[in-house]
Amino acid sequence: MTSNRAALILALVSGACLLLPMTAAQAERGSAAAGKGKAAACAACHGADGNGGPDPSWPRLAGTNAEYLAKQLADFKSGARKDPIMQGMVAALSPQDMRDIGAYYDSLSPKPGSARKEESLKMGERLYRGGNAKTGVAACMSCHGPSGHGIPPRFPRVSGQSATYTEKQLLAFKSNKRTNDGEAMTRIAFRMSEDEIKAVANYMAGLH
Ligand code: HEC
Ligand code: HEC
Repeated sequence: MTSNRAALILALVSGACLLLPMTAAQAERGSAAAGKGKAAACAACHGADGNGGPDPSWPRLAGTNAEYLAKQLADFKSGARKDPIMQGMVAALSPQDMRDIGAYYDSLSPKPGSARKEESLKMGERLYRGGNAKTGVAACMSCHGPSGHGIPPRFPRVSGQSATYTEKQLLAFKSNKRTNDGEAMTRIAFRMSEDEIKAVANYMAGLH
């Protein structure tokens, strides 16, 4: 193959790579306006502004990436992610409903949360920013970002989330009760102690 031809093929392939995800993303984009009406039943638990309800085990959804949110809804529906409350909530939703609801919550502004001031806060910060080399826990920051805003679409926002909810998810990943993560989180949480889980969940609640 001449180098000219190789260069042409390379240009075509990389051009196609740039174009493909864009068209797929466009086809899958939901409408926040349509999602608002479809999310009316969700406000009782997730808050009228998406910042969570009175029970700290009900997560905040405001500012959550649309694709991540739609994936969670699809996973609740298929049973890939299990929760008795959410399973009932998604039963009647179509894939388009899920994308619209995702776009709606993505468009809402997350309010800053707060961390409890306790001794383990430093441990939480160290783990979030640097991981634990001794036990092979990767730094959370490398996927969820230094301020916990996530890296869309795969790595979700975790900043300001209720510590109760975050802790419950980490324990669920650790015990393989939640396995809809492509093994990214189950492998990490498996190596974390329960004290580390508590500490990092509290630290993340204060990130913004
Ligand atoms: C009765 C309370 C309740 C209602 C109503 C409710 N949810 Fe939930 N939702 C929960 C609870 C509890 C969880 C946490 C489940 C877990 O621990 O895994 C949750 C989790 C979620 C998650 C996962 C969040 C994440 O960060 O991964 C999404 C997305 C979600 N709900 C969307 C919705 C939508 C959309 C509706 C309306 C169609 C809705 N919920 C209605 C209680 C509720
Ligand atoms: C290699 C990348 C990676 C690293 C490092 C990582 N995560 Fe994650 N995390 C993910 C992915 C991917 C998901 C989404 C799983 C899904 O799609 O359901 C996730 C989801 C989560 C969730 C659930 C969020 C929700 O809204 O339900 C929490 C909590 C979390 N991670 C905390 C952590 C903590 C704490 C650390 C550090 C100890 C960490 N992550 C390190 C990739 C990573």
